[in-house]
Amino acid sequence: MDHPLAMDAEAMRRTGYAAVDALVARLADPAADPVLRRASPAEMRARLGGPPPEQGAGLDAVLARVLEDVLPYAARTDHPGYFAFIPCFTTWPAALAELTATAANPSPWAWMESAAATQIELEVIDWFRTWLGMPAGTGGVLVSGGSAANLTALLVAREAAGSPSEDSVMYVSDQGHSSLARTARAMGLRPHQVRVLPSDDCWRLPPEAVAAAVRTDRRAGRIPIAVCASAGSTNTGAVDPLDDLADVCSAEELWLHVDAAYGGFAALTPKGRALLAGVERADSVTVDPHKWLFQPFECGGVLVRDGASLARTFNVHPDYLDDTGTHGAGEVNLADWGLQLSRGFRALKVWMSVQAFGLAAFRTAIQRNLDLASYAEGLVRNRVELSLMAPTTLGIVCFRREWPGSDEAETERRGIALADALERSGAALVSTTRLAGRHAIRLCVLNPTSSEEHVRRVIEHFAQAPLPPDGPPGASVLPDSRAGVIADHGGSQGTSSP
Ligand SMILES: Cc1ncc(COP(=O)(O)O)c(C=O)c1O
Repeated sequence: MDHPLAMDAEAMRRTGYAAVDALVARLADPAADPVLRRASPAEMRARLGGPPPEQGAGLDAVLARVLEDVLPYAARTDHPGYFAFIPCFTTWPAALAELTATAANPSPWAWMESAAATQIELEVIDWFRTWLGMPAGTGGVLVSGGSAANLTALLVAREAAGSPSEDSVMYVSDQGHSSLARTARAMGLRPHQVRVLPSDDCWRLPPEAVAAAVRTDRRAGRIPIAVCASAGSTNTGAVDPLDDLADVCSAEELWLHVDAAYGGFAALTPKGRALLAGVERADSVTVDPHKWLFQPFECGGVLVRDGASLARTFNVHPDYLDDTGTHGAGEVNLADWGLQLSRGFRALKVWMSVQAFGLAAFRTAIQRNLDLASYAEGLVRNRVELSLMAPTTLGIVCFRREWPGSDEAETERRGIALADALERSGAALVSTTRLAGRHAIRLCVLNPTSSEEHVRRVIEHFAQAPLPPDGPPGASVLPDSRAGVIADHGGSQGTSSP
């Protein structure tokens, strides 16, 4: 083949095998690198900046540069000590699926162009539907992530409620994900059209508060369009009382959206299924396979109980797409069901990894994460230096170190200093948050690579480590731990002042 972007088959194989060899070596040892390697913009510009070359350097050289200058400067979210934010652990079948999907490049937008890719996406969405217990007739699409799924679902909800209006109101908890605020902005809702309701003392959205707010708004002539509940809030993993919220919504004839981006796939385990009871009654649900289904970025999903409402919301048919008309039952143009026209073959990674490992492996991995989080909660409860900030519902443990006599600002400053010291050790990473304005360390267990030992070392660090002295960023009080667990600090009490 002679064209400017051609490569000969031998070079394609050689570079492909080299990339696979390097990636397998990396993935085989998730603790080989520090859990997070930060870099300054100046360093990144020095390594990666510059105009595009007029003549190419060749793929071997470019690949070597990626391995040297790109991959090391990132968090290793597969590291057994990575407990920050929401970890994204990914599997080899999913990685090969990404390569396959992008090399072959079928786009499941129109049935005529990609019947098999479309069918696989329909299958995967139907798996999710059954895992959540939603009825037949539920439809859905894969999207880039939880944020896009929330936007897609709430656009359908608004369409179902009638035309967009100055009087529309949406209900969210103060623990709702920030993407709901962004969704509201994108939908043209102004701040006063988003009712942010205070969560209860277990960080859940109280159904009575929703019912009262809806009644008040209706009396004032406003138009409620949706209640947004969480099945696994980002802060604490709290699952809102979905059954009771579904009762409120059905009495009020109001759309119930459940953001299960974080917690949805816990439904694969008996404990998670029980916690998520009522999710099957939702009008729409967000799930995020690139969280607890161990898929690489990007992969989110939206499920809508009345599947036909997706096309009612999004279908726009220009003349130049006439040829893609569907012929007969079962042919679906997924581009009619969401915001995207051209669409990547996201479903392949989910489909291939579940086919390769079997569902039991996913169930076990999630169950182990749940057990590990309960173990961590038990450790926190047993340490007098620590206080638990929220019940551990799913895989997130919120806690903090208490220093007698320290006010809130000082407690936060010291807690963040300990979190920074942990990061500098290279052995583990947690994130911090605030619950009702109070500082908390937030540990999210999601990696199948993490063990009790990794969790125990983190909890011990926060219970015992001395405060790091004020100093230049990068100074570490913890020795590097190539083994991926935090070095033991031999019982120092950590009451020293900064
Ligand atoms: C509950 C919840 N909803 C939505 C999102 C947004 O998902 P994404 O980052 O995939 O857009 C997150 C992300 O952490 C989340 O935890």
